[in-house]
Amino acid sequence: MKNAIVIGASSGIGKALVELLLKKGWKVGITGRRLPLLEELKATAPDRVHCHYQDIQDVTASPKSIAQLWSVFEKIDLVIVSSGMAHLNSSLKWELEEESIQTNVVGTARVYQYVYEQFKVQGYGHLVGISSIASIRGNRHSPSYGASKAFQANYLEALRCMSKKHKHNIDITDIQPGFVDTAMAKGDGLFWVAAVDKAARQILHAIEQKKRKVYVSRRWGGIAFLLKRLPAWLYERI
Ligand SMILES: NC(=O)c1ccc[n+]([C@@H]2O[C@H](COP(=O)([O-])OP(=O)(O)OC[C@H]3O[C@@H](n4cnc5c(N)ncnc54)[C@H](OP(=O)(O)O)[C@@H]3O)[C@@H](O)[C@H]2O)c1
Repeated sequence: MKNAIVIGASSGIGKALVELLLKKGWKVGITGRRLPLLEELKATAPDRVHCHYQDIQDVTASPKSIAQLWSVFEKIDLVIVSSGMAHLNSSLKWELEEESIQTNVVGTARVYQYVYEQFKVQGYGHLVGISSIASIRGNRHSPSYGASKAFQANYLEALRCMSKKHKHNIDITDIQPGFVDTAMAKGDGLFWVAAVDKAARQILHAIEQKKRKVYVSRRWGGIAFLLKRLPAWLYERI
């Protein structure tokens, strides 16, 4: 039986991934700030789920939450970091920018760094980050969100290079979803919104294949292709 930790498992993609892992017989440690939601999820398979409060913005306490779960399971095969924060903020309110940056940049980097170090000590592991298609270009509706996702994608690639170069035996997967039907998918004009179960199935498949990077749902790969090539003068007018 394999063991995973899913960070940000109280709702949305993280929760759906936990449900799939449980169906496949995994033991799972789950974290987030909304403990009652985590307890509900634990109640679906009490003997195979352990939950722990974790606020990734608190970079001192956050690794301790992971360490606590690690000690319960002893060996961890997979860590999925699904926690994230998004605000529509074209008026550039600093409080909103700051919350996204503290969560998606500072808090997430601390989690990636800590998990990578733990896997190094353990001798193996698979770290999965969920960045976004929003990592590809700046987004005038949510500047810090897009930029923070670019940070995550870049950081994950750096860890992958580090693992290969130094033979750390740590696999790194970057999941780049388009729109997925969760509380986070905000705003008008959303399209190709994937059902959360479908997105989770595609994400788990990519994890099982140990992919480096994958777009979810798959057709967002076409949007990624276009976004990377769209000239700035045209992108600025959209
Ligand atoms: N939905 C989309 O369209 C979409 C598209 C691209 C990428 N993504 C990415 O997918 C990931 C999952 O998002 P989702 O769509 O599933 O949205 P969601 O339902 O809002 O889930 C976000 C998760 O992050 C956790 N979280 C937020 N702040 C946290 C903190 N400070 N400490 C610990 N956990 C925290 C939340 O748990 P608590 O509130 O309980 O702490 C929740 O479990 C995010 O990284 C998001 O950026 C989503």
